[in-house]
Amino acid sequence: MEKFDDLPLTFADGSGIEDQNEDMARSRKKVVSDRKAKYFVKAASAPTAGSGSMLAGAEEDLKAGSTPKPRSRRLSQTLASREGFGDLVEVTHPSRPASDIILSRDSAYTLLGVANEFRRGDEIRRHGLNVRSKMLFCGPPGCGKSMCAEVVASELHMPLVVARLDAIIASHLGQTASNLRKLFEAAKSRSMVLFLDEFDAIARARSDATEHSEIRRVVNSLLMMIDRFEGRSLLIAATNLEEHVDRAIWRRFDEVVVFEKPSKAQIRRLLKIKTRNFRADFDISRFAERFEGMSYAQVERTCLSAIRTSILARESSISEQAFVAALEHESRRSRIENTILD
Ligand SMILES: Nc1ncnc2c1ncn2[C@@H]1O[C@H](COP(=O)(O)OP(=O)(O)OP(=O)(O)O)[C@@H](O)[C@H]1O
Ligand SMILES: [Mg+2]
Repeated sequence: MEKFDDLPLTFADGSGIEDQNEDMARSRKKVVSDRKAKYFVKAASAPTAGSGSMLAGAEEDLKAGSTPKPRSRRLSQTLASREGFGDLVEVTHPSRPASDIILSRDSAYTLLGVANEFRRGDEIRRHGLNVRSKMLFCGPPGCGKSMCAEVVASELHMPLVVARLDAIIASHLGQTASNLRKLFEAAKSRSMVLFLDEFDAIARARSDATEHSEIRRVVNSLLMMIDRFEGRSLLIAATNLEEHVDRAIWRRFDEVVVFEKPSKAQIRRLLKIKTRNFRADFDISRFAERFEGMSYAQVERTCLSAIRTSILARESSISEQAFVAALEHESRRSRIENTILD
């Protein structure tokens, strides 16, 4: 707990940290408001009221000059294409504040630690130690893996380079390995968050009986690439089929961050965040229980659907009736999805 507090932690109103003691939340909030004017990455589309930076503390680092400096030529899709890996990736510059994401205490602690180390990597390297830079995100769909990759890139002011698996996995497996190599080489020479989504598709267990020996070779080269991955980039791989990921690959990551379905308290917080710009004219938090078992994405979809209905009905707030209708629709959809997937 003490260690946790040592981190320059400034999630908005303590968001993302479960069971938070109120005093801690208040003092963090103060740090946020003192610093936010300068260091917040404002979301272009997402509202940022009360937001906080996952990486606050940047202030001291900027002064000390130890924050990795943005490269003069910012990586763009065009530049990536010119350098020969553009068709394998999608380059974006997300601007997503940390205050929008709700994380468990454990995940928040891990992510803050890695981000903090990354920013002050030089100090750690000077002592002959490695900086943690490889993370595996796992957990069910709609629980924040992709969103978190965006938040990390946004907060660290780095481009998010999303590997396009359809382009990487070639019918010639030799080509797949060479495509992966291109990506890892690119991440060595430029600062980026390299995001390998649906990682299980490449990192299938070598013992998988349905796969032949060639794919094992791809997995073996991937093992080496991950081992040698270092420098000024972060590697994030994500999967919702973690049991398919080869154990040896799993071990290569510095951190494994688990994204789970939201608890009742987290659902309440999400409902509040999602209706902060278009409010409900009733106490929305009492519906939290009815969302249990759903993902964050499903809770969000319900709120957005109720908001849309209210706008079309020329209302200036969400009515309970519109919300209940959206919730029932989402529950039905969820039941159908569960039946199909089971
Ligand atoms: N932990 C969270 N906190 C706040 N909002 C969330 C969270 N998780 C998901 N959301 C909302 O749901 C949307 C979809 O989530 P996201 O794409 O990150 O899911 P995912 O875990 O990557 O799923 P998949 O496994 O299907 O790729 C996000 O853009 C965000 O709006
Ligand atoms: Mg995703």
